[in-house]
Amino acid sequence: MTEQKATNVHWHDGDITREDRARLLGQKGATLWFTGLSGSGKSTVAVALEKVLYERGKLTYRLDGDNVRLGINKNLGFSADDRTENIRRIGEIAKLFVDSGVIALSSFISPYAADRDRVRELHMESGCAFIEIFVDCSLQAAESRDPKGLYKKARAGEIKNFTGIDDPYEPPQAAEIHLRTDKMSLEQEVAAIVDYLLAHDLIAAS
Ligand code: ADX
Repeated sequence: MTEQKATNVHWHDGDITREDRARLLGQKGATLWFTGLSGSGKSTVAVALEKVLYERGKLTYRLDGDNVRLGINKNLGFSADDRTENIRRIGEIAKLFVDSGVIALSSFISPYAADRDRVRELHMESGCAFIEIFVDCSLQAAESRDPKGLYKKARAGEIKNFTGIDDPYEPPQAAEIHLRTDKMSLEQEVAAIVDYLLAHDLIAAS
């Protein structure tokens, strides 16, 4: 648990509630948390889903590992502590999006189960929807795709602590949605997520 450093600080509620914002937007916020190996397809699925949800009139926002690490998390690397802090910050940001009424699509390796569980708890505590999506693909398949050439570099010893090579990935045990991206098509993956959102009343049929 991260220590609360500032003292004498208190939460201040406004007059407009999450329910008011949901009514205004005609949708409920939720975090869809994509986790999986580098190259498993997290960002690809999130980008395709974003388009489908947009066409259904849903407001989303993508939070993506590489993008976030170029901005708010530019001071973090890939040590265990830095990965934990990376996920903690993204979890807090995603929760703010949910509170604002937006569907946050968060794509991070997020290799440690405890870090993902903390983000889930953070959402549950404040009644925010959190859906974990395991973007599952064998290391062999991710490595053969190697879209950024990083596995090759990791195998050559040019990148240390690379997830799946010399750093761990702890697969989710009870993700709400499990996508096998080495067996399913992108369309099937997006459809599986949309079906889940409809079935759980997170988006309305249009
Ligand atoms: S996480 O582990 O903290 O969740 P995050 O998703 O933000 O990782 O960033 C992963 C991305 O950073 C990978 O897709 C890859 O492009 C890049 N990367 C660079 N170095 C590493 C590394 N050592 N391990 C994993 N990904 C790395």
